[in-house]
Amino acid sequence: MLELKGIVKAFHKGTVNEKIALRGIDLRLEDGDFVTVIGGNGAGKSTLLNSIAGVFPVDEGILRINDVDVTHMAEYKRAKYIGRVFQDPMLGTAGNMQIEENMLLALRRGKKMGLSWAFKENERELFKQQLARLGLGLENRLSSSMGLLSGGQRQSITLLMATMLKPEVLLLDEHTAALDPKTAEKVLQLTDELVKEHHLTTLMITHNMRDALRFGNRLIMMDNGKIIYDVKGEEKANLTVQDLLERFEVASENTLSDRMMLG
Ligand SMILES: Nc1ncnc2c1ncn2[C@@H]1O[C@H](COP(=O)(O)OP(=O)(O)O)[C@@H](O)[C@H]1O
Ligand SMILES: [Mg+2]
Repeated sequence: MLELKGIVKAFHKGTVNEKIALRGIDLRLEDGDFVTVIGGNGAGKSTLLNSIAGVFPVDEGILRINDVDVTHMAEYKRAKYIGRVFQDPMLGTAGNMQIEENMLLALRRGKKMGLSWAFKENERELFKQQLARLGLGLENRLSSSMGLLSGGQRQSITLLMATMLKPEVLLLDEHTAALDPKTAEKVLQLTDELVKEHHLTTLMITHNMRDALRFGNRLIMMDNGKIIYDVKGEEKANLTVQDLLERFEVASENTLSDRMMLG
């Protein structure tokens, strides 16, 4: 369960460049909620996810993960609750390390690595099984350098790594936006499978409204630092892209960016 109450975040506070990115966000996700997040450029979507991850302190409000107040908890401590995948496939994995080393780091997350670099045999087996489900033949390349893989391969592994320890919250920030359409579709399907299999509470930002409609049981639309539309269940299932466009025109103070309409 993830709970946000009155979250406010401003950048460059008290200067001429002050920008209020979040203007009082109230949001409660139940276990297993898969929420897609849409909104124009600068709406505050990434800031919302970064606030949950603790990338920076928020100015006001309360953040709880499974009833633990994490509002003032440092990012590295909060990391044990959170899995994250960003847009850039190069960010989630270390290119100068082997596939299995990357995966071991994910498995040992939150533990000191000093003496634990040795693999247990069942761990290699686990990594092989997980890689095999990607259907990319990577299960036979455990000791390949991550840097040799394509963006889609790396993003798929990042997703496996982010979900390996079944995080309380999974945060995806346009994690398929840098991939070609075919690869993006594969990674989205894998996302859907992993979220359902592990019953992960998930926030997935996408600029593709069709993907926002196709995936998840709930959708939120953001504009100018606020949630302007929140829909779930059957009502979400019956929505069309046209409905979203109209909803945006009515509720927002902005006009839609072309980017948001793509796809
Ligand atoms: N690190 C930062 N420093 C200064 N301003 C920022 C920073 N991150 C985001 N912003 C500003 O906050 C607003 C919301 O940004 P962001 O959350 O990245 O929007 P989105 O992800 O919806 O495109 C924008 O006006 C952006 O310029
Ligand atoms: Mg963003």
